Amino acid sequence: MIREVIYDYDKQLEYINLSREIMDIRKRGEKPLAFIHTYGCQQNVADGERIKGMLEQMGFDFTDTVDDADFILFNTCAVREHAEDRVFGNVGALKTLKRRHPSILIALCGCMMEQEHIANKIYKSFPFVGLVFGTHAIHKFPDMFYHSITGGKRVFERGNDDLAVHEGIPVKRDGSFKAWLSIMYGCDNFCSYCIVPYTRGRERSRRFEDIVAEAKELVANGYKEITLLGQNVNSYGKGLEEKHTFAELIKEIDNIEGDFLIRFMTSHPKDCSKELIDVIAQSKHISKHLHLPFQSGSDRILKEMNRRYDREKYLDIVNYAKEKIEDVSLTSDIIVGFPGETEEDFEQTISLVKEVGFTSLFTFIYSKRVGTPAAEMEDPTTDEEKSRRFTRLLKVQEEIASQRCASMVDSIQRVLVESMNEKKGMLSGRTSGNIIVEFDGSEDLIGSFANVKITKARNWILQGELAQ
Ligand code: SAH
Ligand code: SF4
Ligand code: F3S
Repeated sequence: MIREVIYDYDKQLEYINLSREIMDIRKRGEKPLAFIHTYGCQQNVADGERIKGMLEQMGFDFTDTVDDADFILFNTCAVREHAEDRVFGNVGALKTLKRRHPSILIALCGCMMEQEHIANKIYKSFPFVGLVFGTHAIHKFPDMFYHSITGGKRVFERGNDDLAVHEGIPVKRDGSFKAWLSIMYGCDNFCSYCIVPYTRGRERSRRFEDIVAEAKELVANGYKEITLLGQNVNSYGKGLEEKHTFAELIKEIDNIEGDFLIRFMTSHPKDCSKELIDVIAQSKHISKHLHLPFQSGSDRILKEMNRRYDREKYLDIVNYAKEKIEDVSLTSDIIVGFPGETEEDFEQTISLVKEVGFTSLFTFIYSKRVGTPAAEMEDPTTDEEKSRRFTRLLKVQEEIASQRCASMVDSIQRVLVESMNEKKGMLSGRTSGNIIVEFDGSEDLIGSFANVKITKARNWILQGELAQ
């Protein structure tokens, strides 16, 4: 299958310049201001950073409140119902602001907007929303923006150029020492519960050399943590003219000179290779952490979910990782209450959690997504029963996580210092295994690596002191 890489951002520069001139007149304050709120996963955050890059070229500054903004954008997530409800609530609340200041442009983008029934609902129920675009249309944001503020019509754009990767879009990164680096877009897996393949389209990889060049630039600019992003990073390279695997890509990035940490997400167990685990084990910069979502411990449910691995295969990779990567930190995603999950299936999930010993878990109650195969499945389990299973899972994991953290007391961990917790007056950072550590120290350390001796474990948070 052809995956087209397009380097045509120059075409947008004309719209950037035209929008800049118009915003200079339309702005309410001294400079045009944009309010951007992103929901959902890191892919959405990375998209938000590209939209901010384009807005910056249009002369925008950014604000944390909607009240003084000239442009308001919600970058939405469709993965669970709860995420969608919050968006509707927040957008509805903007009606009076728009009435008071008609020049404001209110826009919605992201995964929710790629769903036809949602775009239709926005069109009918939220007439004050002037621009709606999906994840496939980001590369022509300046064009859409310009037409929204000049055309006198609402602009609705849902893309279908599934095969293209657009390079050259500017990025305004939120952080100065942590960076997201997308290596691929979309997903071809069609897990039966999941909306992502419908909202982000077919899987397509960026070129090897484009990714490596961006990683080098990040390291040269002082970034200390680079997280490689994709829905299934282990299938990186499919459809590229020149064949490359994810293991080769991460190895190449590991070879860049400098003091930095590489993270990556998400790994799909069906494609996670032993070659990748060997690369991590021998690397200089790759975190000793594997986020490997298993979703359910029951083979029957895994089949219904269309995950294409079973418990045995999952444990095989996990055990290989434990054997090869010293003190590896394992994390996972789990769905509780998938349609037809019985008590017995759920017990299989609990037993897998106990067997592996995860550092932490992201646990979700199944949420029905319109248009996915699971939405058509019989789901006789009550919400109360699902909540009970969910709480039980949290309890089991709490104990495992606190034991795991307690076992780290007296060890020395290399920590990337991230922030100052003002309330506690303590620095906060993360270990290579992605566990939070709090310790006393000067704010100057933020954005650098520090060696910390672990002195105490409180549930899943570590406390420590600076070591020499
Ligand atoms: N591509 C990644 C996950 C992306 S979505 C992977 O396959 O691992 C992040 C997590 O949200 C998933 O791992 C899953 O646990 C959860 N999720 C996805 N769809 C869901 C749904 N319909 N209901 C509840 N949780 C869901
Ligand atoms: Fe969704 Fe499955 Fe793709 Fe992950 S791999 S994004 S869970 S379809
Ligand atoms: Fe949500 Fe889209 Fe990410 S649905 S989880 S923002 S890929």
